Amino acid sequence: MRALAHVSDLHLGRDPATDDAARRLCAALLEAEVDQVLLTGDVTHRGRAAELRRFQEIFAPLLLAGRLLVVPGNHDRMGDDVHRVWMGGARVTASRLPGLHVVRVDSTAPHNRSLIRGHGLLTPADLEAVRRALDEAPPRALVALMLHHHPMPLPEEDLAERLASFFGWPFAAELPLGPALLRALRGRCDLVLHGHRHVTSAAVLGEGAARPLRVLNAGSTTLTRQFRVLEHDAGCLAREQWLAVPGEAAPALAPAAA
Ligand SMILES: [Fe+2]
Ligand SMILES: [Fe+2]
Repeated sequence: MRALAHVSDLHLGRDPATDDAARRLCAALLEAEVDQVLLTGDVTHRGRAAELRRFQEIFAPLLLAGRLLVVPGNHDRMGDDVHRVWMGGARVTASRLPGLHVVRVDSTAPHNRSLIRGHGLLTPADLEAVRRALDEAPPRALVALMLHHHPMPLPEEDLAERLASFFGWPFAAELPLGPALLRALRGRCDLVLHGHRHVTSAAVLGEGAARPLRVLNAGSTTLTRQFRVLEHDAGCLAREQWLAVPGEAAPALAPAAA
């Protein structure tokens, strides 16, 4: 039996409470002894090099052990634009790990430099690269696709998002090619792990099918102070549980840009 943890939207550098929550989170992840941690973007709050260094310092035990995979989020494209550090500038990569095949998709774009243009980008070329990455999945491995932005509609979380949607701005909108991505994954993938939206969510596509597809949003782990752990064996999910990050009670979800 192996286990992975999904975390997202750390927003390091937002304030001291956020950075403290990240330190507690790393300790909790080590305590949980998961094989792999998958982090789906907005690692930094303003894309600053100093925020990236803080992330590397806090999560060094997991990074040095090769147990942490990251995709960038729109906030990582701001400031010093630190997004290349995790995928080397590639849009799609595949990682073959024991019992786990991870396809990483960079759904960010240059327009994310602007805080109010936080929506994602997925191109037909990205979809084709995802199909090729799925081809590399070995049998009896759990297949997980990581990306920052959500591929299917989710409700607005606060007044700013409701206003943005009212005026037709795409900030809270799903990826336009999200449905096409999900169609490409059905029957070939087990998990879609994303963030961007700070409230957790989950959906199962093809429930009852031989290979259902779970679309899971970790939310902002430094705000929710909890993370999903998924246990798997021979390519099948065995158990899902939420673990809490010890420490102060989580504050109310901030109405900050996702
Ligand atoms: Fe985001
Ligand atoms: Fe975020």
